[in-house]
Amino acid sequence: MANPLIKITNIKRDFVLGNEIVYVLKGIDLEINKGEYVALMGPSGSGKSTLMNLLGCLDTPTSGTYILNGKDVSHMKDDELAEIRNKEIGFVFQTFNLLPRTTALDNVALPMIYAGYSKSERHNRAKEVLTQVGLSDRIDHHSNQLSGGQRQRVAVARALVNSPSIILADEPTGNLDSKTSLEIMTLFDEIHANGNTVILVTHEEEIAEHAHRVIRLRDGLVESDITK
Ligand SMILES: Nc1ncnc2c1ncn2[C@@H]1O[C@H](COP(=O)(O)OP(=O)(O)OP(=O)(O)O)[C@@H](O)[C@H]1O
Ligand SMILES: [Mg+2]
Repeated sequence: MANPLIKITNIKRDFVLGNEIVYVLKGIDLEINKGEYVALMGPSGSGKSTLMNLLGCLDTPTSGTYILNGKDVSHMKDDELAEIRNKEIGFVFQTFNLLPRTTALDNVALPMIYAGYSKSERHNRAKEVLTQVGLSDRIDHHSNQLSGGQRQRVAVARALVNSPSIILADEPTGNLDSKTSLEIMTLFDEIHANGNTVILVTHEEEIAEHAHRVIRLRDGLVESDITK
C-alpha cells in the first residue's frame, strides 16, 4: 500500500479551562488513503469537530503525530499551518461562512489571493468551479441573495478552488432541508468520483450512507471504523 494521505498516531487534544483540564481526544489512531470517502459520526461532544480541526490544520494536537501527505504537521507554527491549509485543505462548514455583501465569484476566488494568483487567473478558476457546482447563473449574486443550498454550493466551490488534497466538511447539510441536503450530497458524491478525498461529519445515517467508510467516535476515542 502506498503511504496514506492522512496518518495520525495516538493523537490527544486537551484544553485548559481555568484550573481544569478537559480531555477531549484521548488517543486516536487513523489512516485515510487518497480517494476515500469517509463519514465521521458520534454523539454530540464526542470530539468530531475537534478532530476535524486537527485534520484541517486549524489546530495542533496536545500530543501524538499527524502526517499529512508525507509531512509531519503536528508541531508546525501558525504561518506554516496556514500555508499547508491553503494548499491541501478545502473546508465546508455547517453555517457556510461566506462573506455576506460579496459576490459568489469573489467569495470563491478569495483563497486564491493567498495562493498568489493574478486576478484574471482567480476569476477564471472561480467561474470554472462555480459552473462545476451548478451556479454559473449566480456568479454575480451576493451571498446574502442566495438560498441556503446555493450558499453551500458557493462554499463547496470555494473549498475546491485551490484543488486541495482533502475536502473536509463539518455537518455540511446541518442547516439544509432534506431535499437540499440530498442535492449537496450529490455534489459531494461527484467531487469524490472526480478523485477527491472527502471527509464529512454528520449526525444522519442517510447522509453517512453516501460515504464508503464510517468512523464513529465516542468520548474522544474511535468506537468503530467500518469500510463498506
Ligand atoms: N476550545 C475548547 N475549550 C474547551 N473545551 C472544548 C474546546 N473545544 C471543544 N471542547 C470540548 O470538547 C468536547 C468535544 O467538542 P466537539 O466540538 O469536538 O464535539 P462534536 O463531536 O463536534 O459535537 P457536536 O456533534 O455537538 O458538534 C466538548 O465537550 C467541548 O466542550
Ligand atoms: Mg461538532
